[in-house]
Amino acid sequence: MDGQEIATIPGRTPGGSYNVVLGEGVLDSLGRLMAERGLSGKAAIIADDTVAGLYAEQVAQSLREAGFAPAVLTFPAGEAHKNLDTVRRLYDALVEARLERGNAVVALGGGVVGDTAGFVAATFLRGVPLVQVPTTLLAMVDSSVGGKVGVDLPQGKNLVGAFKQPALVVADVTTLETLPEQEVCAGLAEVIKAGIIGDATLFEHLEHTGREPLGWVIRRAIEVKRDVVQEDPFERGRRAVLNLGHTFGHALEALNDYRMLHGFAISIGMAIAARVAVALELAEPRLETRITGTLQRYGLPVWHTGVSPKRIWETMGTDKKRHAGTRRYVLPRAIGDVIVTADVPKEIIMTALRETCELQSADPAWTESESSGNPRA
Ligand SMILES: NC(=O)c1ccc[n+]([C@@H]2O[C@H](COP(=O)([O-])OP(=O)(O)OC[C@H]3O[C@@H](n4cnc5c(N)ncnc54)[C@H](O)[C@@H]3O)[C@@H](O)[C@H]2O)c1
Ligand SMILES: [Zn+2]
Repeated sequence: MDGQEIATIPGRTPGGSYNVVLGEGVLDSLGRLMAERGLSGKAAIIADDTVAGLYAEQVAQSLREAGFAPAVLTFPAGEAHKNLDTVRRLYDALVEARLERGNAVVALGGGVVGDTAGFVAATFLRGVPLVQVPTTLLAMVDSSVGGKVGVDLPQGKNLVGAFKQPALVVADVTTLETLPEQEVCAGLAEVIKAGIIGDATLFEHLEHTGREPLGWVIRRAIEVKRDVVQEDPFERGRRAVLNLGHTFGHALEALNDYRMLHGFAISIGMAIAARVAVALELAEPRLETRITGTLQRYGLPVWHTGVSPKRIWETMGTDKKRHAGTRRYVLPRAIGDVIVTADVPKEIIMTALRETCELQSADPAWTESESSGNPRA
């Protein structure tokens, strides 16, 4: 049994092309798909210990059946291990496994593994082929497509990295059956984001029908990301739209010491962006209720208490994606239509932050002058 393919989504890159093969049970086809892509010989399967325990043997078996000689390399799960120490250990293991230039690195896991193993593939021997095998919803619809790889430094997230396009992406929807529901929810925030950015049909399906059929939903979200990154592979312009909800969301994540799931933070961030768009009269008030209603339908938050608007504003000022010192915002005008603008008065942002972070609070409203942060702490 080789699994059932849902779609093969072709992607173009500056130097070539790749396919995203999406399906049910397609992990068992991975070896054949890699061979068809022209890969052969050794292959390093890199996974975190959680994903390795679940899927590494199945993947290794598929590779062996297709004539590969696979080695499995693991590191502990979690963002805390997406760092240069892990990279260094993986280099050592690749030297020991005698991986050669044409041999592939297979990144089996969520975004942490994709980013870390991707960075290793971009740099080991000045670059070896990378096969992305995403096993979280977020990794399927976001991190495995687009070519950005990298690791964190103690000073900040994703501060070291490269552009490394995959030779192949294989996403097996059945792997999501073992993913904790919280992680699925968090991934749905990125799926809803994809709908708002560029696929009204996808958004309306999530708004009115639900997340099934999940394979179709994932396919549409991947296509949105693929189209955006294809237009702007090196993040010089259009790609900024992918940051919808992220300017606010990154600040919330940082202020919560990264204990808040990324998808939950950007859900709140998208709600704020919608409020700002309505306040600027870029969008009808109904757009805000459609966006927040859809996020809430999937258990995603659209309000937040515990951090003052002033601190969010200050933290946003340190975001590494600021452009030449200006704060840029991605704002929805309609479903499927977003703009990037720096032209937003501070007062409008502060009002939206207050509406999101204060009005729902059980505490008496915070005032601008309160700078000491979390009154609940
Ligand atoms: N490169 C990009 O363009 C890009 C885009 C978005 C996010 N990212 C990065 O992605 C990372 C977040 O990725 P993530 O949300 O996938 O987190 P993750 O990789 O940490 O995975 C979440 C958790 O789920 C576990 N897991 C993964 N697949 C599983 C499965 N099928 N069954 C059971 N458990 C499973 C993992 O072991 C981990 O504990 C961040 O580091 C972020 O910076 C990168
Ligand atoms: Zn994101």
